[in-house]
Amino acid sequence: MSAHTRDEAPVIVACPDGPLLVRGHIDLTTPDGEPIEQRRRTVALCRCGVSSIKPFCDGTHKAVHFRTEPVETAQHRTDE
Ligand code: FES
Repeated sequence: MSAHTRDEAPVIVACPDGPLLVRGHIDLTTPDGEPIEQRRRTVALCRCGVSSIKPFCDGTHKAVHFRTEPVETAQHRTDE
């Protein structure tokens, strides 16, 4: 039995200096288009690029001191 429902709208939260938390169902695939099973209702997707279990976060972002821009700065860039 799945831990989530497919008709539930996903919510994505960008964690400061960390992964993207996805709550709800999304279709995850490999670069070749093969489906990746989403076993949990919430998954953490790596955005630092160093996880050993990509596309998922394994916490390595802390060891490499991954830093993201503050939301205000990123929003400013989209307004330019
Ligand atoms: S964001 Fe956590 S390992 Fe990349």
